[in-house]
Amino acid sequence: MAITIKSEREIELMREAGVILAKVHQELGHELKAGMSTLQVDRLGEEMIRSYGCIPSFKGYNGYPGSVCVSINDEVVHGIPKKSRIIKEGDIVSLDIGVIHKGYQSDAARTHGIGEISEEAKLLIERTRQSFFEGMKCAQAGRHLGEVSAAIGTYAESFGYGVVRDLCGHGIGTNMHEDPQIPNYKPLRRGPLLKAGMTLAIEPMIDIGTWEVEWLDDDWTVVTADGSLSAHYENTILITENGMPEIFTLTEEEIAEGIYKF
Ligand code: MF3
Ligand code: CO
Repeated sequence: MAITIKSEREIELMREAGVILAKVHQELGHELKAGMSTLQVDRLGEEMIRSYGCIPSFKGYNGYPGSVCVSINDEVVHGIPKKSRIIKEGDIVSLDIGVIHKGYQSDAARTHGIGEISEEAKLLIERTRQSFFEGMKCAQAGRHLGEVSAAIGTYAESFGYGVVRDLCGHGIGTNMHEDPQIPNYKPLRRGPLLKAGMTLAIEPMIDIGTWEVEWLDDDWTVVTADGSLSAHYENTILITENGMPEIFTLTEEEIAEGIYKF
């Protein structure tokens, strides 16, 4: 399958989807606290998504039961919301959320610390986010996708972290997963040429320890093989005509923080 180039109209709908998803992330991030079950987080997230007139894209996707993936500590991604799974002080919690707005998809993830977290956990979260922005410096028309992957992986590995290799980012549009696949490490080939109008979900998943992961018996939850902490940071972006990409899913708080300059 070829990589689709979105029209102006499609880009506008994806931009709207991204703004909504960013609001959901910001609101849900503020609601997260110790004592909540991961099912409560999912229910709250689903209500928020629907309050904006959107559909939770994960719900029912390949049989996934939730609207939000809630992954705690050594869980990398795809944690299934459960009534029995309670969030505790000191945990790190990754929320991965997808919405469909007028037929167009947006996908983003954030990792949050609950109350006081360890210094090593804080650094992991910050550096995982920064690895995404290191990738953004290369996400420009005329460059190759492999440069983005290499920039993410090289930055994360400079701290001795493990970069998850069994899962990657992806193109996105009317489908959650479109071509191309976007690894978070330096690929053997330089990959496709980036063109204006491509929309991509870029999502580094970074472990303090090994890059190796395992799947739990629920067939969804991905955990680090050594039990080390893992963080996730994902945005849906647009490759622009000139210069830096547009990031559709930054929260207002992140924009105010000035983490990314257009
Ligand atoms: N951000 C994840 C992805 O891009 C979310 C998929 S979770 C699923 O693959 F439940 F929908 F599969
Ligand atoms: Co994704």
